[in-house]
Amino acid sequence: MYKIIDGKLTAGLIKKEIAMKVAERAGSGKKIPHLAAILVGSNGSSETYVANKIKDCHEVGFRSTLVRMDDNVTENQIIEAIRKLNRDPDVDGFIVQLPLPDHISESRITEAIDPGKDADGFHPVNIGRMVIGLDGYLPATPYGIVELLKRYNIETTGRECVVIGRSNIVGRPLSILLSQKGMDATVTVVHSRTKDISSHIKRADIVVAALGSPGFVTAEMIKPGAVVIDVGTTRIASAETKSGWKLAGDVDFENVAPLCSWITPVPGGVGPMTRVALLRNTLLAASLK
Ligand code: GUN
Repeated sequence: MYKIIDGKLTAGLIKKEIAMKVAERAGSGKKIPHLAAILVGSNGSSETYVANKIKDCHEVGFRSTLVRMDDNVTENQIIEAIRKLNRDPDVDGFIVQLPLPDHISESRITEAIDPGKDADGFHPVNIGRMVIGLDGYLPATPYGIVELLKRYNIETTGRECVVIGRSNIVGRPLSILLSQKGMDATVTVVHSRTKDISSHIKRADIVVAALGSPGFVTAEMIKPGAVVIDVGTTRIASAETKSGWKLAGDVDFENVAPLCSWITPVPGGVGPMTRVALLRNTLLAASLK
């Protein structure tokens, strides 16, 4: 019988740990951590993500600020807002919610963030530090996945791990973390140009699906006993919910789960852990001051 890796529960425990550290800081007269978010336009998913991130801040006792900008804002106006947050001594960390409108270069925006305030861990300096194993801010989703594997005592040493997807914010950085000393997995990254993707997935002891294609991973691809981590969060139409949509993972959960030793659900798996990473990075930023 498969077991569920409960990201919601784990994120709740970590939030309690962070809330205790915030209370300790407050008790000894130290600064309350402060996270800011820049939200451009009114993409439905982004609105929800940012609202949840701000709710998390309140839950652990952080201060938070939301900076809203219009869809037709210029790149330079966003960079000006970033510079203001870079200079603001009260803001410990901040994020610019992605995706951005097509006329904005995400890499220019990311590079404008002070690496010391980069709560998402997306700045090239922080990615570089992560690649060579230095301490620092970690990208949110990879951090969340590694933390789940550690807290559930899932063995990674010497195990075959297949990461599906090579995005800058999930697949690529996660593949690096999993192969590092301490995690010690043997990692294969597969992507849209990989030949015979199933043959790679079939060899995996640990499968991480991060491609954003609902139900892509099917039972035929899975080695019995595998651990399956589902990063997919695609919104699909649903008659069952009040909002008219629900989140769909990249894994055909119903048919894949019975073959697994461990599996993450969607929702309630990786997603809540991703948000906790922001709190972790912001607390780290405040404590390095
Ligand atoms: N969009 C999807 N995931 C993320 C994330 O982790 N951070 C930001 N800033 N935007 C996102």
